[in-house]
Amino acid sequence: MPLTQNVFFVGFMGAGKSTVARRIARSAGATSLDMDKYIERACGKSIPEIFEEGGEDLFRKIETDTLRELAGREEPLLISCGGGIVMRPENIEILKSGGTVVHLLVYADEAASRISDKSSRPLFNDIESARELCALRLPLYEEAADFTVATGGKSVFDISREVSLRLRERGVICRQQG
Ligand code: S3P
Repeated sequence: MPLTQNVFFVGFMGAGKSTVARRIARSAGATSLDMDKYIERACGKSIPEIFEEGGEDLFRKIETDTLRELAGREEPLLISCGGGIVMRPENIEILKSGGTVVHLLVYADEAASRISDKSSRPLFNDIESARELCALRLPLYEEAADFTVATGGKSVFDISREVSLRLRERGVICRQQG
């Protein structure tokens, strides 16, 4: 098996978590999973629809249940988490005990320029509130993470290579590929 344990990607919206997880999975011969997409499939609703129906509380509850389920699976996965995963202390515990946590660091302004469809992100409203939310969460991402990779001004290729290297150094990816 190319992965010795789960890898969780955390970071603000637009950090590139899903793209980087997918890319590393492909080159390492592992499986990646996007938590938001998984939730949408399991609920038969989009993330904005879940927010409309039960607000952020409902979404966070589903998110925690899903995280617990995925963290407990037998096959290790590269899991990209929603940007708000660190808002619940119990999630940070699940992340820390469930594998290696990678923080992809992005600030709100660069994130805004990367996200083309903001309507799919109910919590990315105006840039001012995104900056505040990002500042509030940065210490929580750091608390959860085993290591951080800054993404500002870097290509997906470079970010993926840097993360892969760090994961190999730690013995989390154990085959020399990609
Ligand atoms: C959220 C981020 C989104 C999604 C939901 C809430 C957040 O995921 O989980 O809209 O609170 O930051 P991405 O980080 O993948 O955009």
